[in-house]
Amino acid sequence: MEPELKLPDFTIVDLEDLAGGVTLFEVRAPRIAARHRAGQFVMVRPRPTSERIPLTIAAVDRDLGTITLVVQSVGRTTMDMCAGFKRGDRFANVAGPLGNPTHIGIPGKPEDYRGTVVCVAGGIGAAPIAPIVRAFREAGHEVITILGARRADLVILEDWLAFHSSQLVVTTDDGSMGRKGFVTDVLREVIEARREGASKVELAVAIGPPIMMKMCSKTTEPYGVPTLVSLNTIMVDGTGMCGGCRVRVGGESKYVCVDGPEFEGHEVDWDGMMQRQAMYKAEEAESLERWKSANSACTDSACKAMAAAGSVASSG
Ligand code: FAD
Ligand code: FES
Ligand code: MG
Repeated sequence: MEPELKLPDFTIVDLEDLAGGVTLFEVRAPRIAARHRAGQFVMVRPRPTSERIPLTIAAVDRDLGTITLVVQSVGRTTMDMCAGFKRGDRFANVAGPLGNPTHIGIPGKPEDYRGTVVCVAGGIGAAPIAPIVRAFREAGHEVITILGARRADLVILEDWLAFHSSQLVVTTDDGSMGRKGFVTDVLREVIEARREGASKVELAVAIGPPIMMKMCSKTTEPYGVPTLVSLNTIMVDGTGMCGGCRVRVGGESKYVCVDGPEFEGHEVDWDGMMQRQAMYKAEEAESLERWKSANSACTDSACKAMAAAGSVASSG
């Protein structure tokens, strides 16, 4: 008798609202959980009729066979995910893990070298940076994490990051939580305070909106601190075939999905990347409007929270 073809079910085993328009999903995906390493992502198609979108794996539980995704509502597909799914529902498919894992070490230093690493997360960047913080700490590095958001109610995963970091500094633009100001102010101070000796900052990792990653790279450049950034270009297939995620790095064309997603921030053509990211703004807005008018779910809390958080405007 022919063996039965058992398809993975991608059931949402847990779901939690983390902040205005940000939802955490724990999804059954045992094969992906078993193979995942820090820095990798998945391509998710929430419904059979949806587009595919890239989302970073924020955590895995290999015993339960689950992966954790943290999704910010910024447009049609993410809004559908955050407002239209509940515990027990299933995503149509989840492909991965994709992309190169983060190299957990200091560039140019031997594997057993233990330098200080500063991890900087902006907004939703707290989720993708979480497994990287943990991996550097478990490898024996001192890890200083700087977590920035516009307001206190948009700060996510601070307890998790505090637990896994040697030190956590929270900043908000309006001073409603932690220090008032930008992550780059703290990044500069930390580098300045540790310019010599064993605690010298040897590597920065920055994940968040492109403008924030650009500014972090500009901050570290004069100090010669290598800076890893995880690029969030538009992706269609996630496997190097469509060219949608093309970006210039060090004067060469790279595909973020197969050559990245992490690159040296000092070499990225940020303006080119941001231009390409905004290429379909008009179509995205039209698609969101059509989805809103077709879905009563848009009166739900996720949609209201998204509007209150202004996440459409801040998505790059
Ligand atoms: P749309 O209205 O279609 O687009 C809003 C904006 O999102 C666009 O202007 C564009 O800048 C960007 N975008 C649109 N389509 C895509 C696409 N197919 N691929 C990438 N960006 C797109 N977001 C999270 O909330 N959590 C994550 O963990 C996360 N990880 C990511 C990891 C990678 C490697 C990349 C490349 C992106 C990641 N993103 C993550 C961003 C997320 O994929 C986009 O926010 C999402 O695709 C927007 O889809 P939409 O239909 O809701 O919005
Ligand atoms: Fe198609 Fe990278 S997403 S080439
Ligand atoms: Mg979309």
